[in-house]
Formats: sequence, C-alpha cells, structure tokens
Amino acid sequence: MANTGIIFEETAEVVEQLKFEAGQFVTIVKAEKSSQTAKPGQFAFVECGGNTLLRRPLSYLRSSKEKGTIEFMYKTVGPGLEALSQIKPGDEIKVMGPIGNGFIYPSSKKSVILIGGGVGIPPVLFMGEELKKANHDIGLVAFFGSEVPFPFQTCKSSLAMPGVNDSIDTTIDDMEKLGVSCRLSSQAGYDGCHLGFVTEPANDFIDTLSDSQKSETVIYACGPESMLEAVAQLAKEQQLDCMLSLEEHMACAIGGCAGCTVKVLEDDHEKMKRVCVDGPVFNAEQIYF
Ligand SMILES: Cc1cc2nc3c(=O)[nH]c(=O)nc-3n(C[C@H](O)[C@H](O)[C@H](O)COP(=O)(O)OP(=O)(O)OC[C@H]3O[C@@H](n4cnc5c(N)ncnc54)[C@H](O)[C@@H]3O)c2cc1C
Ligand code: FES
Repeated sequence: MANTGIIFEETAEVVEQLKFEAGQFVTIVKAEKSSQTAKPGQFAFVECGGNTLLRRPLSYLRSSKEKGTIEFMYKTVGPGLEALSQIKPGDEIKVMGPIGNGFIYPSSKKSVILIGGGVGIPPVLFMGEELKKANHDIGLVAFFGSEVPFPFQTCKSSLAMPGVNDSIDTTIDDMEKLGVSCRLSSQAGYDGCHLGFVTEPANDFIDTLSDSQKSETVIYACGPESMLEAVAQLAKEQQLDCMLSLEEHMACAIGGCAGCTVKVLEDDHEKMKRVCVDGPVFNAEQIYF
C-alpha cells in the first residue's frame, strides 16, 4: 500500500554526529515535523552537501516525538554519505520525509522475527523498539548481521534464544534493555557472534516453532539484496509471512521519475512499482530477485 501521509521538507539542525569503526556514522538531527509521524521502514531524502546534487535516501533509525529528533545510521560508500559524515553539531541539512509505506503490522500475527544486515539494520531495529513500546508482551526476536564491527554498544545476552547454540550470546545493548532476545552474526569472527550468515541462527530458531506458532509469526527484514533473497527463501521454506524493505537508487523519491521501479507480482500479474512511494516495503512473495 502506498504512503498517503504528509511529506515534510525541513531544515534540520544537527544535534549529534557519532562516529563508529569502518566509516559508520549515526547522525541525530532536530526535525520537529517529520519526527512526529516517522514510522519504521519509512525513509528521508537527505541533502548531503559536498558536490552531490542529488539527495540520498536514508531509513529512520529512530524518531522521538518528545525531543523532535530523527536519527540515521549509515556507512560511507560514495561521495554523498562521505559528505554527510563531515557535518558537525550546529550545522543544518535539508531533509524531506517521511517517505514510503514502512513496515505494516498484520493484526492477525502475534510474533515477530526481525532480520537486519549492514546498513539495513536501522529500520528493523526501529521496528523492534516501536513494537516493544506499543505492546510489551509481543513475542519478538531479532537477528542482525554485519561484516564490520556493529555500530552499536554490544553485550552478552541473558535472554534465551531457543534452537541457537549457547556459545552465540552477543547482542545489542538496546535490544537487551528492551527485553528483546537478539543474536548477532558475522563472517568476520567476532566474539559471541554466529560465524556465518544471519539467516542460519534465524532458521535454527524457526525450527523450534510449531506449525500453529509459525502461522502467527511474521518476518520483517532489510539488508543487502543477497540477504533479502536468502530471507525470502527461508520464509518460503518455513511457511512464514515475510515483509522486506528494498533499496534502489533514487533521483526524486516522490514517485515522479520512475527511476526506482522494480518488477513485482500483484494479483498474479507482473507490475512495475516505484520503491520510493509504493514501497520500500513489499511482501517477500511479490519480489523477483
Ligand atoms: C529506502 C532506502 C533506505 C536506505 N537507507 C540507508 C541507511 O539507513 N543507511 C545507509 O547507509 N544507506 C541507506 N540506503 C542506501 C543509500 O541511500 C545509498 O547507498 C546511497 O546511494 C549512498 O550514496 P553515496 O553517494 O554515498 O554513494 P553512491 O555513489 O550512490 O554509491 C553507493 C554504492 O552504490 C553503487 N552504485 C552507484 N550508482 C549505482 C547505480 N546506478 N546502480 C547500481 N549501483 C550503483 C556504488 O558503486 C556504491 O557501491 C538506503 C537506500 C534506500 C533506497
Ligand atoms: S525515485 Fe523517482 S519515482 Fe522513485
């Protein structure tokens, strides 16, 4: 379903610029309007500065209605995000948002599995925090993967993760504090993380669920395309509903240029959909990889 909410254009003052290993940053800006309505899975179109004319899409990592702030997490991969990483507290950037449909919570589902990879972690983490705040008793587990050190405080988890080897015990601090059982994966061999793909411990956990539990569970995922393809395959094999947030290069982000279109399956027909306004979240079974 396309987003029909208001998209704001704001000049946002940088509140904090946090630097992490491997060119990763978390930028917190004051954006009074979009912070009131931004939902997990939606994104902002951000003016990065430097010599980049086109804005860059960035998912919300968090938004706070009370503080009037929004947060982004990104890794410098090209000139846009490199320029953005140079901004300092007190600087101003233009942000347009919230854009896109965001993750939709199916009312019939009681349990959620979150899967995030690399710079796809922000919307999934945001979804976990919002779900937990809205319904403290929701069944929620999370799996995150990264090939560079996680740009978050990590700790040993005291929360059980059925099916997953006990030696895999590292989690993200914020998830632990919220009571969300979470496990991390990496090919880089980090302490307490699963050595391999994020879908492997997720599969081990799903194997512990009964058929009726599976029918009440939905997966939300965002990450590199290869990870999304593996998550879609996992969901199909395990017969779970699954929603994926896609990434495409964007020129306008408001549905006008058709530069971000992807082929999806809808009502048994192939259709071209714009990732910016018709997505970025789609049902996994709609997507062609
Ligand atoms: C909805 C959405 C949410 C996003 N959220 C985040 C986020 O939270 N954090 C984050 O770090 N990133 C996020 N991204 C990705 C980010 O917007 C892009 O990586 C952006 O292009 C980076 O800009 P850049 O100038 O730094 O790098 P670019 O110069 O745009 O290059 C980025 C990478 O894409 C490749 N590339 C460049 N042009 C093309 C092309 N035409 N086709 C294929 N590949 C190309 C480059 O080789 C490079 O590897 C998101 C993207 C979308 C669509
Ligand atoms: S970026 Fe222009 S239509 Fe999506």
